[in-house]
Amino acid sequence: MEISVLGAGYVGLTTAACLAEIGHQVLCADCDLEKLSSLKAGRLPFYEPHLDDLVKRNVASGRLEFTLPSAAIEKGKAIFICVGTPPLENGEADLSSIESVARLIVNSAHGYRIVIEKSTVPVQTAKRLWRHLSIYNTNGLEFDVVSNPEFLREGSAVEDFFHPDRVVVGAESPRAIALMKEIYAPVLRTRSSCPAHPQCPSMPEPKFILTDTNSAELVKHASNSFLAMKISFINLIADACEAAGADIEKVAEGIGSDKRIGQAFLNPGIGFGGFCFPKDLQAFVRIGEKLGCDFSLLREVEKINVRRTEQFVVKIKKELWVLRGKTLAVWGLAFKPNTDDVRFAPALGIIRRLMAEGAKIRAYDPEAMEKAKLDLPEVTYCESAYQAAEGTDAVLVLTEWSEFREISWKRLGELVAHRLIIDGRNLLSAAEASSNGFQYVGVGRAAQPLRPAGELEWADAITAEVPVASHQRPAPTQDASIA
Ligand SMILES: NC(=O)c1ccc[n+]([C@@H]2O[C@H](COP(=O)([O-])OP(=O)(O)OC[C@H]3O[C@@H](n4cnc5c(N)ncnc54)[C@H](O)[C@@H]3O)[C@@H](O)[C@H]2O)c1
Repeated sequence: MEISVLGAGYVGLTTAACLAEIGHQVLCADCDLEKLSSLKAGRLPFYEPHLDDLVKRNVASGRLEFTLPSAAIEKGKAIFICVGTPPLENGEADLSSIESVARLIVNSAHGYRIVIEKSTVPVQTAKRLWRHLSIYNTNGLEFDVVSNPEFLREGSAVEDFFHPDRVVVGAESPRAIALMKEIYAPVLRTRSSCPAHPQCPSMPEPKFILTDTNSAELVKHASNSFLAMKISFINLIADACEAAGADIEKVAEGIGSDKRIGQAFLNPGIGFGGFCFPKDLQAFVRIGEKLGCDFSLLREVEKINVRRTEQFVVKIKKELWVLRGKTLAVWGLAFKPNTDDVRFAPALGIIRRLMAEGAKIRAYDPEAMEKAKLDLPEVTYCESAYQAAEGTDAVLVLTEWSEFREISWKRLGELVAHRLIIDGRNLLSAAEASSNGFQYVGVGRAAQPLRPAGELEWADAITAEVPVASHQRPAPTQDASIA
């Protein structure tokens, strides 16, 4: 099918490249001319695993092209809207890009179009879009409006396209339903290979959930709010663990082993960030107000998350007392690993607070430094985690990149001025840190006493006998799903 994708950001570019990969003819468009020309020159505007190869391959095969929005709309029978919906001052979603795309559609399209809303929008937006297209339609355009919310996770977006848990489609005409099934047909069949895996693990076929447009829109906001709630909940429990001298890792394991709850999103830390959870939660609270529903539960979720930054700064000050004149290493800037996205990243908020208190920051992130530099030019950016740690009073772990887990304690110990690790993601092993002479402070973990190198206490010996000890679990991530 001829498809146009409007918006070449994290969602649009991934959607465009993946739709081309499954055989569609795709025109990907953006109103940002600089972004468009860099895409035409073969440069991606952000980092996402596997996407570079996918874009190159599909451009070379002629199935993926980059163009202006009006040119894309003229051609594509299906139009995916993937433009940004950032928060306004009052927390509501700014729908001005959706509105301007709608105007362009009535001006540039002829014949029939299926208009697919993939951006995250408040419930009833598809209805508004339909009304808007009808009112301004002077070209005799025939159209359907469909809601098809996006659940990809930055960092595994390509994998998520090919192996979604579900494809949610809010459509209210038989023609639109048939077209959506046709577009997604290759994804709905279980696959043996995709660009993210040489041999895909066996997975059940994704669910195709067909509903009305209002329900589809609500699924997206409700899903993100639920996941945000799970994170804020475990962060509260982590606070209780610290206060009571309990171990959050064990508590989370105990809670999450209940099938009704599950282990995902039970990793405590410095809070959630990124372009989805914070803004979608705020927008959902505003939606609740407009609908006359009491969403105060979600307001609390947001408050708990906002508090995480200050709580972490307090934790640092508890160890270092006065921050003025201290130098701190920051490991990780992106809001989660495997992305360069720093939008609403907790690390940036923490750095701002630390610099306001007079601390000097030496930061390293494998992918996100270029983007962070635009927001925080005063930080010293380093070429490696080791270089960032040179001469510092403490190392702060703020994003759970797996390379930080491979650190050589010996080398690190020789570089720092003071052996203190404050781990905002519980990424490192507290026992390893302390047996290498580091003072370790995590989240919801009992403070680790210093022990001479090589000395294993009875508690470690017991953990070592358990097949999957908590410190050997895969790198935790606070917002690793949706978003
Ligand atoms: N990033 C995620 O992980 C994610 C996941 C699910 C859903 N979403 C939702 O998808 C939407 C897009 O998110 P994103 O992260 O890709 O944003 P983004 O900022 O990376 O990309 C949006 C793109 O839209 C372009 N744009 C804006 N107005 C336009 C117009 N009138 N015509 C053409 N292009 C236009 C911008 O230039 C930008 O390149 C948002 O609603 C977001 O909430 C994002």
